Amino acid sequence: MTTQTATPTSLPPLPPLRIGEYTVPVPIIQGGMGVRVSAHRLASAVANEGGVGVIAAVALSLASRYYEKGRDYYRANVKALIEELQTAREISPNGIIGVNCMVAIRDFEAMVRTSVEHGAQMIISGAGLPLRLPEFATANPNTALIPIISSLRAARLLAKRWYKLYKRLPDAMIFEDPNRAGGHLGVKDASQLFAREYDTDVVVPELAEWSHTEYNDEIPIITAGGIWDRQDIDHAFALGAKGVQMASRFICTFECDAHDQFKRAFIDAKAGDVVIVDSPAGLPGRALRTPFTKTLLRGGEVADQCIATCLEACRCREEKETFCIALALHRAQQGDLENGLVFTGSNATRHTGLVHVRDIFQEILYGIPVQPVPIPG
Ligand SMILES: Cc1cc2nc3c(=O)[nH]c(=O)nc-3n(C[C@H](O)[C@H](O)[C@H](O)COP(=O)(O)O)c2cc1C
Repeated sequence: MTTQTATPTSLPPLPPLRIGEYTVPVPIIQGGMGVRVSAHRLASAVANEGGVGVIAAVALSLASRYYEKGRDYYRANVKALIEELQTAREISPNGIIGVNCMVAIRDFEAMVRTSVEHGAQMIISGAGLPLRLPEFATANPNTALIPIISSLRAARLLAKRWYKLYKRLPDAMIFEDPNRAGGHLGVKDASQLFAREYDTDVVVPELAEWSHTEYNDEIPIITAGGIWDRQDIDHAFALGAKGVQMASRFICTFECDAHDQFKRAFIDAKAGDVVIVDSPAGLPGRALRTPFTKTLLRGGEVADQCIATCLEACRCREEKETFCIALALHRAQQGDLENGLVFTGSNATRHTGLVHVRDIFQEILYGIPVQPVPIPG
């Protein structure tokens, strides 16, 4: 694992991020990206650079040797997660590896328990309020628990509830700005998306003030959504954040676990190619315009049968509406953009080629410009 002191720099050093018993040398958490966009390769590469590498737990089995169509999806997910964690740890023996477990998935509890039992140092949990997370993480009290929230109200409620029931506070909290983040967005419907009350510049200072006055800064606030470069990180720190979570920036890296066609879609994306879709989870989602979303937005028929029973509540399974999200995300990760859904943050069009994860860290820490290269073939 590299540390910031190793190279002379013209930029001021970024302060390390303290979360629970961990000190993250570079205050960057790589956002979990399902399905299998962030698995062992991306997570270990980020961890080796001194950030937190995060494996997205959702539907990991679909591209694994453990899954047989229609059989034992949940058990296969557990096996696939253990494999991803072990491989990430082999590649990054000293780095910090976390797992992103979404509340909205049916095997949330199993994914948390498996992660904690198999060495994940952090659990990052959103897509719903993780009210019972501490209960599922008792196997290792040192595993840091980090909820994703989209308002001060949610932060207050969660911290009070955890303390009352479990005598434990969140080790950090991630604010995800629905105006800029990728994937499922923490608002009820798209009409709330650009509301100022959910804006980073409004919510992060509120959260930082709350953490300072009520918890003596014991709950570091991390901000996510639209963070791309050092300027964005400096701005986040000026607002009171102690760290950032970045996801989309890591997609066009050699180490990202998605197919090259998935990455190519970002490099080819133009202004106007970021769209909002209705997910079967009942939340809006930010995605790239692809043949799949074009059909979807025209109201065309894309409904696939539920293949995985992955969500607690699902319009595809229950109402035969929308589409099978596990299948759509899996197909995109495998390079099938005709039938696949490509989640993205608002910065999608800034990708110009492939880079190494290390290049991104070098640019952010030392101002060394990245040199993106075209995808071969
Ligand atoms: C392809 C993709 C997949 C994502 N999947 C998940 C996920 O499985 N769980 C989750 O909590 N957030 C997910 N997110 C949200 C990110 O973790 C992150 O918080 C957000 O995208 C940050 O904004 P940025 O992409 O502009 O950096 C996903 C985002 C993208 C782009």
